Amino acid sequence: MADYLPQVREQYEAFPYPQRDPEKEKSWLITTWLDDLAMINHHCFGGRQTFGGRFRVLVAGGGTGDATIFLAHQLRNTDAEIVHVDMSSASIDIARQRAGIRNLDNIAWINESLLSIPQLDLGRFDYINCIGVLHHLQDPDAGLRALLNVLKADGAMGIMVYGRYGRAGVYQMQSLLRLINQHETTARGKLANARALLEVLPKTNWFKRGEDLIVDHLEGGDAGIVDVFLHACDCAYSASEIHAWFEDQHGLHPRLTNSGRGRAVYEPAMVLGLRPPGFLQAVAKLPLREQYEIAELAGGTLITHSFFATRRAEAAAPYGDAAYVPFFHFDKTALQLLDMIERNQGRPLVVDHALSGVAMRVDPGPYAAWILRHIDGEKSFGEIFALLRAAAEFRAAVPGDEELFRSFAPVYEFLSSLDRILLRHRDVTPPAD
Ligand SMILES: C[S@@+](CC[C@H](N)C(=O)[O-])C[C@H]1O[C@@H](n2cnc3c(N)ncnc32)[C@H](O)[C@@H]1O
Repeated sequence: MADYLPQVREQYEAFPYPQRDPEKEKSWLITTWLDDLAMINHHCFGGRQTFGGRFRVLVAGGGTGDATIFLAHQLRNTDAEIVHVDMSSASIDIARQRAGIRNLDNIAWINESLLSIPQLDLGRFDYINCIGVLHHLQDPDAGLRALLNVLKADGAMGIMVYGRYGRAGVYQMQSLLRLINQHETTARGKLANARALLEVLPKTNWFKRGEDLIVDHLEGGDAGIVDVFLHACDCAYSASEIHAWFEDQHGLHPRLTNSGRGRAVYEPAMVLGLRPPGFLQAVAKLPLREQYEIAELAGGTLITHSFFATRRAEAAAPYGDAAYVPFFHFDKTALQLLDMIERNQGRPLVVDHALSGVAMRVDPGPYAAWILRHIDGEKSFGEIFALLRAAAEFRAAVPGDEELFRSFAPVYEFLSSLDRILLRHRDVTPPAD
């Protein structure tokens, strides 16, 4: 093991995080936002990844196994290999039991610090997951450098670090509990004090004011409370700081996508989109990272930043290529939008997406409803467009591919910003389920 804070290791040995009961594996597959193969393919591999040819995954600081199990489950019918590294043996034990219940035999378990990965001779990886870990290192950049050391040239990373502004109340609670617990020597005693404090906090407290942002202290058991309020080493970042770190320092290209809400929550025009103020036009001309930070500050909900990072700038699947197959992702947002467009008879509308808290004016144009109705995850845009041109209602206009892509762009952009529509190349078959 290399250099890590002993208190951090002790914490995760005593309180493996997240708290998981392996028995639940029999009835419940936990999915993680970034690690859906369709997301990885769309955002990191131009929609052309088959996940065959010995695809190699590293889950660094994999904890009790959420991402490891989800990835291993999706890749169980391929020759892919998943390597789970964590310095907490208690966490690995739980993750292993979960894999055992699912009969997953495509995972290697390594009880080590991720800082020593370059010395472990593990080879290089196509995809590295590191969720909620780098911000717990004394030197987060040393952790990132260790991961980059084993990332293939065309590989990709899925990262999550804490969000600076969304966690403002959490940091006040950490300060408060450090004061309260200064003479308390045991972990159990500190935890008891944290629980007692939560019972009596006045509603004016800054954590209390934004309590709905955090669920760990309510649903995460002891491990959740310790992780949020009593962590020995914990830092946070703004969207701009992530760009400065990953892009300026390491030449990587981050693609922010918040769990369940995508990039939309980083778009000022969507966060402030219900009644767009005049200054948005000037904001739209600012560097992207500043726009993202404006949305982060305005929205106030980003307690974490999740993102993919690749060395190549153009790693995502391209919109505008007829050889790509569009498909709906995650929930029924796309079908609900179709319903709204039909009821509104194709006129421009303001779409208020309650789940993500964003809104946007969308002009669907004459073809969007028809295109949305024919997206089935099998047909490419080219095939859909050919069918559209043959449809009786459009025979008079006969729009070309370019015109159809242009007309469908506002709807695509809205759904894509929420990751509710993804693309894969038509030659790529996803791993069998
Ligand atoms: C907050 S938990 C996140 C677990 C998992 N990634 C997830 O999202 O469910 C942080 C994990 O990182 C691990 N960790 C922290 N520092 C580490 C290090 N230097 N090397 C390996 N694992 C580490 C801890 O043991 C813990 O399991």
